[in-house]
Amino acid sequence: MEKREELYSGKAKSVYKTDDPDLYVLQFRDDTSAFDGLRVEQLEDKGKVNNIFNAFIMEKLDQAGIKSHFVGRLSDTESLVKKLDMIPVECVVRNLAAGSICKRFGIKEGMEINPPTFEFFLKNDELHDPMINDYHIASFGWADPAHIEKMKEITFRVNGVLKELFLKAGMLLVDYKLEFGIYKGEILLGDEFSPDGCRIWDKETRKKMDKDRFRQELGSVIETYKEVGERLGISFS
Ligand SMILES: Nc1ncnc2c1ncn2[C@@H]1O[C@H](COP(=O)(O)OP(=O)(O)O)[C@@H](O)[C@H]1O
Ligand SMILES: [Mg+2]
Repeated sequence: MEKREELYSGKAKSVYKTDDPDLYVLQFRDDTSAFDGLRVEQLEDKGKVNNIFNAFIMEKLDQAGIKSHFVGRLSDTESLVKKLDMIPVECVVRNLAAGSICKRFGIKEGMEINPPTFEFFLKNDELHDPMINDYHIASFGWADPAHIEKMKEITFRVNGVLKELFLKAGMLLVDYKLEFGIYKGEILLGDEFSPDGCRIWDKETRKKMDKDRFRQELGSVIETYKEVGERLGISFS
């Protein structure tokens, strides 16, 4: 496999073509952004930590029968993935209230959400990722109804696997965002799962261990990402 030209550079990762038309290389950079790209900083080792973290989670999901684009890790900061036609929608499951849902509905941070709730957002920084519903996705052609149902089903299955995994390691999976795409007609989990795209709290102290450390300037961002991984049994050296 040979890495070819860069196709797209997002806020945190760059996508490269390869000599295989079905495969891309995802390169995880140290760039860290918040507030729809308004604030961007480089955090040393973030690319490496998130790449290794994501590989671990994608493998766990695969073992649980949840298919993703992930093929394998190529280096500290690069992974090989299946080329997806991305659906421009973010799928969010929330187990505890934090972030935008608190503002939107006047809910206190930390309230248990039972049953866990599901939200779709349009992936569009300029529009600040507005919340959308199933009808918007179908009416505007972002995905067809069968794929909409699949995204919800898979996103909840991920919750079943990961809530348990984090809990066993003394952490609460507060919420998370997933992205999906189409590969040869089949819907697959794409993008990444890392502390950049979810919220994780220590079970006892409720210490924030995710990107809220960056958003809220709490310090020790990457050290804490590593602590999350190490509690799960990941080695970053
Ligand atoms: N397997 C894949 N095939 C094609 N594109 C992908 C795949 N996985 C992720 N992507 C896309 O690559 C980009 C990753 O870079 P990222 O820095 O997260 O971008 P963004 O700023 O758009 O969120 C995203 O737009 C994501 O949707
Ligand atoms: Mg992204």
